[in-house]
Amino acid sequence: MRLTILGGGGFRVPLVYGALLRDRAGGRVTHVTLHDLDRARLAAVAHVLADQAAGVPDAPAVSVTTDLDEALRGADFVFSAIRVGGLEGRAADERVALAEGVLGQETVGAGGIAYGLRTVPVAVDIARRVARLAPDAWVINFTNPAGLVTEAMSRHLGERVIGICDSPVGLGRRVARALGVTDPARTRLDYTGLNHLGWLRGVYADDEPGRNLLPALFDDERALTSFEEGRLFGAEWLRSLGSVPNEYLHYYYFNRETVTAYREAKQTRGAFLRDQQARFYDDMADRASASGALAAWDRTRAEREATYMAENREAAGAGERAADDLESGGYEYVALALMRAIARDERATLILNVRNRGTLPLLDDAAVVEVPCRVDAAGAHPLAVSPLTGHEAGLVAAVKAVERCVLQAGESGSARAAVKAFALHPLVDSVTVARRLLDGYRSAHPGLAYLTSGVR
Ligand code: G6P
Ligand code: MN
Repeated sequence: MRLTILGGGGFRVPLVYGALLRDRAGGRVTHVTLHDLDRARLAAVAHVLADQAAGVPDAPAVSVTTDLDEALRGADFVFSAIRVGGLEGRAADERVALAEGVLGQETVGAGGIAYGLRTVPVAVDIARRVARLAPDAWVINFTNPAGLVTEAMSRHLGERVIGICDSPVGLGRRVARALGVTDPARTRLDYTGLNHLGWLRGVYADDEPGRNLLPALFDDERALTSFEEGRLFGAEWLRSLGSVPNEYLHYYYFNRETVTAYREAKQTRGAFLRDQQARFYDDMADRASASGALAAWDRTRAEREATYMAENREAAGAGERAADDLESGGYEYVALALMRAIARDERATLILNVRNRGTLPLLDDAAVVEVPCRVDAAGAHPLAVSPLTGHEAGLVAAVKAVERCVLQAGESGSARAAVKAFALHPLVDSVTVARRLLDGYRSAHPGLAYLTSGVR
């Protein structure tokens, strides 16, 4: 089985390859093609993978290429994990927004819109090429903003593109532990929303499917503050909501505090990662052999994970991230489980970004939502979830409307649609600010020069 990774020079590729190396079952991936625009980054990652594979006799073969069409031909699965504009672009997304006093996060608010506007045309081009060159391949989209980018690709690939994120799995794992659930694999999570905008409303053990275990958590102060989301949002707010929100909702519920924390930080997340990654890729370029490459990569990875959402935790007084949160077991396992379920027709239940198909009656069938899905050889089928509350429905509808403006801008080049996207976002408080945001992002990103048509 052949897997192609777009963004193959990216820092997280060794996580995926590590998961493939641990997969001992029949029908596993035998060949990995890494595609990237940057040869030096491909060489660096190939170095780490070679070190990972050392001593593993049947490790998947690895080849690298900068030719996209060549990478796609013959692929059974395509992982799309690109970063249009690189980490310099992410830092600019943050900087421009913060200068206007609004959030510049990678996936949330103005920053997420800017990143989406840059990424949609590229993702659409990839989707078209896949449809032409590898029509039977399944595309697993890792590229952020994951829900929006998956929807852009699904307009050309239908249900053969599935978006993934590790945050709902992590949330489910932490809440299950806080509840003292003995076998998290035998529980059903009632989680729903959009990517980075979802809520866990219920936890049901398979042997007692009629009883929601989650409400008991709200009576237990110690359990409630024993995990990341409890510490970020505070016990009282979780009780008020009656659900456990995805950690990215911290940017909504505590917007003022997170904007201040980002503005006061020595560096934004994107700028920190840009510098950290530059050191890592320089280090790899200086190495004559693969030996030690994995250890160097792992040190960088650990530092990255330990500082994840540090500003939010600081703003919330949440303290350090819990050690067991830093273990891997995140998105590479979701991707592997998804690929195995499709390739081997092994039934699995996973929280994925897929077309709505009636799951949330609020949205049309083509809207990509993040919901639990049953996966088999025919793909990912959304499962029923409990209805959204008024508050959840309000935010989901507002943010989906913003995503639709980004998609329209990305597909038509309409600057008017781009301004509308910024202006309609719940975390942007003025149309004037929205206009200035587009001007600021256009100056910062040559990749946004395509936004020309339409009067602003
Ligand atoms: C979480 C999110 C991902 C994001 C990742 C890394 O896992 O779900 O969408 O890419 O964090 O964030 P970072 O700030 O380290 O790039
Ligand atoms: Mn994510």
